[in-house]
Amino acid sequence: MKTAVVILAAGEGKRMKSSLPKVLHRISGKTMLGAVIDTARGIRPEKIIVVAGAHLSRMRDAVGSTSGSGAGSGSGGSVGYGGVSFALQAEPLGTGHAVISALPSLEGFRGDLVVMNGDTPLVRAETLRRLIQMHRRRKNDLTVLSFIAQRPEAYGRVVRDGAGNAAAIIEEKDADEGQKKIAEVNSGVYVFSTVALRLLEAIPKNPLTKEYYLTDVVSLAGRQGLRAAACCIGEEEEFMGVNTRAELIRASGLMRKRIVAGLVAKGVGFIDPEAVYIDRDVSVGAETMIYPNVCLEGSTTVGSGTVIYPNVRIKDSRIGNNVIIKDSTVIEGSGISDAAVVGPFAHIRPGSVVGREARIGNFVELKKTVVGRASKASHLSYLGDAKIGSGVNIGAGTITCNYDGVNKHTTIIEDRVFIGSDSQLVAPVRIGKGAYVGAGSTITRDVPKEALAVSRVEQKHIPGWAVKKRKKKDKGN
Ligand code: UD1
Ligand code: CA
Repeated sequence: MKTAVVILAAGEGKRMKSSLPKVLHRISGKTMLGAVIDTARGIRPEKIIVVAGAHLSRMRDAVGSTSGSGAGSGSGGSVGYGGVSFALQAEPLGTGHAVISALPSLEGFRGDLVVMNGDTPLVRAETLRRLIQMHRRRKNDLTVLSFIAQRPEAYGRVVRDGAGNAAAIIEEKDADEGQKKIAEVNSGVYVFSTVALRLLEAIPKNPLTKEYYLTDVVSLAGRQGLRAAACCIGEEEEFMGVNTRAELIRASGLMRKRIVAGLVAKGVGFIDPEAVYIDRDVSVGAETMIYPNVCLEGSTTVGSGTVIYPNVRIKDSRIGNNVIIKDSTVIEGSGISDAAVVGPFAHIRPGSVVGREARIGNFVELKKTVVGRASKASHLSYLGDAKIGSGVNIGAGTITCNYDGVNKHTTIIEDRVFIGSDSQLVAPVRIGKGAYVGAGSTITRDVPKEALAVSRVEQKHIPGWAVKKRKKKDKGN
């Protein structure tokens, strides 16, 4: 039996009070829509259709840039396996109308259609699978996933008949006092068998809000002789809908806890798991230890046996095994190889690679720079557009002068070179294998291998100069 998923994301999201479409707000580094799409992919559907409104192209761009594989074609066309297509709901006339807008994209599809809201980013694929199983086992035509809410007022209430069957879903605005007391609520996740899709056409316009409520399909099913059921298998934390900033913050907190719990289960250590911020797609190996106030963002991967000390932010980077990242270090778009030590207070900018066992110390900035195995830049340096070999020692205060105001130039430092402290290497320039640069030199020409390059004014002494100066001063008084 095939499945398809429709994700509703065309609402205006007014309650967010933001110009950014609601489902493009991020939770743990991923847009809510991206999170829901990931969940949908987890059940390996034949199609995923996102219903979007005025912001369709913006959403398509956002999904395309974060998901990589097969993001949307135009409305109607779906793209391959696991692909996402977009359907336009030109006017937000309600959740029922939104599903109808997706139907042209489902032409010819026969199977179970899962419908879910784009603003419930915590739903798990595993739960969708369970719901689909129940739907099939019980031979329902329509199944709604429900849960017991502590604060049910944000959700539609599930009204059951005398026999305990789901008879209707009533929104807060339409509920009477008795219905308002019902704690079982609609999660916004539904499974429709193909026969149940005809119910959509019968949805009336809500007299109060002038919208077509998807939830009305439950009461319509009974009247049309179809079998509708509500399965109360949800947990409130998994199905919380994000309608406001406050809810976004709450959902972010829940997602953070979930991510950390997943890593703890894999053997990652935390000093204070509440004080770390780790994006959804980040992976961390076992026996890595993470101190408080660490942000691991984007597509970052961290190996095992690594230690990340406090106040470190790492984005879109690969960190190897047994690495030590010391306090207050920023690493972006770079790779740190096994057993390297970086920081404290290091800044590794995009396109850099720190080799195995290399050491990048305090106040060292790398930009598009490759540092070879066991090389060291331990203090106060700027190394940009540089290719540094292995076993190199970069003295304190070394600067690659890589920018002439118009173009960037490369500095090549070959294996086993020693750069004395406070040197400037004016690029383009190459320091040959095993060469030495004397401290305080400004190097403007290539240095041959094994040579010593010194470029500073020779030191001279003026004997007694200080005594004369002091005498002058005394006279003056
Ligand atoms: C909806 C349900 C409610 C359920 C809750 C679960 C209805 C009428 N109510 O309420 O029973 O408990 O979700 O979270 O369905 N959307 C469109 N087009 C529209 C309107 C909305 O695509 O015209 C999308 C929104 O972008 C959103 C989703 O549908 O992602 C739900 O809409 P929202 O307005 O948030 O519904 P709720 O009031 O939360
Ligand atoms: Ca909602």
